[in-house]
Amino acid sequence: MAFATRPFVRAASSDAATASAKKLLIKHVTIIGGGLMGAGIAQVAAASGHTVVLVDQSDEILKKSTKGIEESLKRVTKKKFADKPEAGAEFIQKTLKNLTTSTDAASVVHSTDLVIEAIVENMDVKNKLFKTLDKFAPEHTIFASNTSSLQITKMANATTRQDRFGGLHFFNPVPMMKLVEV
Ligand code: NAI
Repeated sequence: MAFATRPFVRAASSDAATASAKKLLIKHVTIIGGGLMGAGIAQVAAASGHTVVLVDQSDEILKKSTKGIEESLKRVTKKKFADKPEAGAEFIQKTLKNLTTSTDAASVVHSTDLVIEAIVENMDVKNKLFKTLDKFAPEHTIFASNTSSLQITKMANATTRQDRFGGLHFFNPVPMMKLVEV
């Protein structure tokens, strides 16, 4: 599983945050884009104990994403808990409890620690999204893109948080692939 099985802990690097010498615990994750990659990332984030909001453009898309996640979880659980079906059922229930959906990114990022963007591979669209989220997310929130080919620096420059911006490149199918490029 590409997502760490315990919450990420990162030394905060902005001046204000460094001054308070705090370690940032990643607990609440927002995934933007509920397609192939975003749904997989949401699944592994929720399965590893994070509170996850999955965002896309319509309830219809999100319904499809959630159904896909449920089916994928059943497949994973069948293997992982082959001789413990009760534990498997509990794992699915716990994971789904960690996952909610929304069509309004700006209204859900106010309490998030990490935003992972997995929308269409288009710099202008990604930059527009990050610019908007930058206004609504708290200062400590880290932004990341799952882009395959676009420059992370160009996206970071659309925001005011160049020191809290990175690439988190997951591989398909996310729940099966242990590798993630940071
Ligand atoms: P996809 O087309 O399956 O999903 C993209 C989703 O983003 C769609 O559900 C769409 O409705 C949603 N979306 C588009 N604009 C949006 C917006 N402004 N706000 C909210 N949702 C929006 O695409 P896929 O394959 O999941 O790729 C997503 C990103 O991941 C791309 O940047 C791609 O290059 C990258 N990637 C893709 C891999 C792959 O194997 N498909 C592998 C690694 C990275």
